[in-house]
Amino acid sequence: MITEIGTDLQHARELILNGQIVSIPTETVYGLAADANNEDAVCEIFKAKNRPTTNPLILHFDSLATALPYITNFPSIFEKLHTQFCPGPLTFVVPKSTLVSDLITGGQNTVAIRFPKHPILQQLLKELGRPLAAPSANLYGQLSPTNAMHVHSQLKDRIPYILDGGNCSEGLESTIIGLDENKIVVYRYGSITPEALAEVTGYLPKAKVHAEGTVLTSGMVKHHYATQTPLYLGFKPDEESISSVQITIGKHEFIADPHLILSENNQLEEAARNLYAILHSADALGMNKIYIEPFLNQGLGLAMNDRLARAAAKFS
Ligand code: TXA
Ligand code: MG
Repeated sequence: MITEIGTDLQHARELILNGQIVSIPTETVYGLAADANNEDAVCEIFKAKNRPTTNPLILHFDSLATALPYITNFPSIFEKLHTQFCPGPLTFVVPKSTLVSDLITGGQNTVAIRFPKHPILQQLLKELGRPLAAPSANLYGQLSPTNAMHVHSQLKDRIPYILDGGNCSEGLESTIIGLDENKIVVYRYGSITPEALAEVTGYLPKAKVHAEGTVLTSGMVKHHYATQTPLYLGFKPDEESISSVQITIGKHEFIADPHLILSENNQLEEAARNLYAILHSADALGMNKIYIEPFLNQGLGLAMNDRLARAAAKFS
């Protein structure tokens, strides 16, 4: 199968209505989307990604009104968070209705729903009039894509079309939250920080980002988001650095080449937007090792450290 890249929204729409899978732009990372009401199409997502079917998918909606038939409860605290952050990079885990296939939820009785803000995706969702099931458009366990070329490098020949919406503006996956004993819990750190959630909830939500027992979210798997080149946290300015690439948050004059910088001005939002793209570039250099400086463990730094720790876990 030849994989085309283009900006033809109607073509993407027709493919999806015909039961095919299409890569779509979102503000976080590119997704691999299927008509959520077509089980055969949803099946193709798992095949194209080599993803285990035990790992549930997120449903994407244009509005809360369209989502309501697919869920049985949307707690009032979620409504407040939805008003504040949506459309945007926040995913809610809620009880599912019978409209949602077990294939999407991995057999769980909850479903993850999100309201993306990328204008092209919003238009596509409106024109489809139905939800899209979409995980990130990478091969299972590998780096997430933040532009069309990243998707192409991993999924070419596996999918017919990549709808090109430019570079993702956030660059990190959505924050996933649920409700536990009436309190907001963070299942996956992401673009919306716990501090930002606290401004609405009045308390800093607890994190449950490490799986105990069964894996609730694939982001909880210890090895994930990995580069092909072995990746390590920290610096190694010794003889090993001859065959390694270093990634730092801001400028460091003392570091040898090759050296990639996430944000010239030490800006966390910019670093988050560039993180996956820089990791893709570092990987493409074909060096023996990638060293990356960890972030301060707060705000977006939590989400980025979480991804890096999981990527590095594969090589430790
Ligand atoms: O930003 C994003 O969320 C991107 C874009 C494409 O929307 N999507 C994304 O999907 O990151 P994926 O499949 O790579 O990650 C979805 C996460 C997985 O860790 C999955 O296990 C979790 O959501 N998830 C899905 N349904 C769930 C549920 N019912 N309970 C808990 N976690 C769930
Ligand atoms: Mg993913």
